[in-house]
Amino acid sequence: MDQGRLIVVGGSGVIGTSVVNTARQSAIPVVATAHRRTTPDAIKFEMISGDLTCSIPDIGNQDTVLILAAYGSPGWIFENQAKARELNVDATVRLVKTCQDRGASVFFMSTDQVFDGRDGGYTEEVSPNPLNLYGRMKVEVEDFLLSLEGNHCVMRTGWNVPGDPDSHCAVKDAYHHLLSGNARMAYDNLINISDINDTARGVVELAKLPDRPKIVHLAACPAVSRTQLCEWIIAESTFGDKMSFEPIRFSELTYSEPRPTNAWLDNGLAVGSLGLTFTPPEKTVRAKVRLLDALQRVN
Ligand SMILES: NC(=O)c1ccc[n+]([C@@H]2O[C@H](COP(=O)([O-])OP(=O)(O)OC[C@H]3O[C@@H](n4cnc5c(N)ncnc54)[C@H](OP(=O)(O)O)[C@@H]3O)[C@@H](O)[C@H]2O)c1
Repeated sequence: MDQGRLIVVGGSGVIGTSVVNTARQSAIPVVATAHRRTTPDAIKFEMISGDLTCSIPDIGNQDTVLILAAYGSPGWIFENQAKARELNVDATVRLVKTCQDRGASVFFMSTDQVFDGRDGGYTEEVSPNPLNLYGRMKVEVEDFLLSLEGNHCVMRTGWNVPGDPDSHCAVKDAYHHLLSGNARMAYDNLINISDINDTARGVVELAKLPDRPKIVHLAACPAVSRTQLCEWIIAESTFGDKMSFEPIRFSELTYSEPRPTNAWLDNGLAVGSLGLTFTPPEKTVRAKVRLLDALQRVN
């Protein structure tokens, strides 16, 4: 990156926190922005009404701006379409234009939800075909960024598992469902389950590269079915004997909008060409279960 900074917009979120910590450990100059969860280490920045050049006046062509600030719940986005568009599309495109005007590179974090989920194992070459509004909004920004000249990169990821017991993730959700006694889990719904620190390391390694790929998938493979995830949780948890689930087809679950059944991302470019590594999903799941068990014993 040649002395440029990694400016993390959304540095107080789950992925942002991990990226900022990883960058600091790698001695990469990093600046984090926060909106509501401000800390002395972060610059306050509100993306809808604010201008990043007011918060970071010297932003320039050595810098890379990682855009993480967004609404990420497909259900919430469907219910709050205007509000979601304001942040996830309008403010994001404005921020990309600001970066482009200053000559800064942009990393945009997108999602597996840009794919229709008919095939699974999506590589960077496959064209998106989103089924829901969250995915369509991500594609709008992806397309805009990809239309620009510059050293920009669209990053896509699947479910990330943070190493704290409080943040919501696929493992925590499943763990609590399994304890509820009425869990229904789809055996044909395949997802990536990644250790968030591996995703963060991927971002930081890409920031160091003078030439970045236009699109890269940052996710652990192989894909995991929801039922396999549950079997690992039950096997690892000391509360496993209190957990149960009914295996179902994904189509039996009702959502306000369609969800892709099998949208998992292939990580061949990240691993094979860029040399990134990802913890095997089973190891990530079992480590998270041990954390959740410790919390469950206290409560
Ligand atoms: N987590 C995953 O597994 C996952 C999977 C696929 C894709 N993604 C994508 O990755 C990105 C980051 O996800 P995440 O899970 O880290 O999200 P998150 O934990 O919800 O964090 C969102 C971040 O955005 C900031 N933010 C929210 N509204 C803002 C606004 N109006 N102006 C400026 N900043 C604002 C938040 O700041 P405050 O908290 O300080 O208010 C926070 O730092 C998202 O684009 C998401 O779609 C995440």
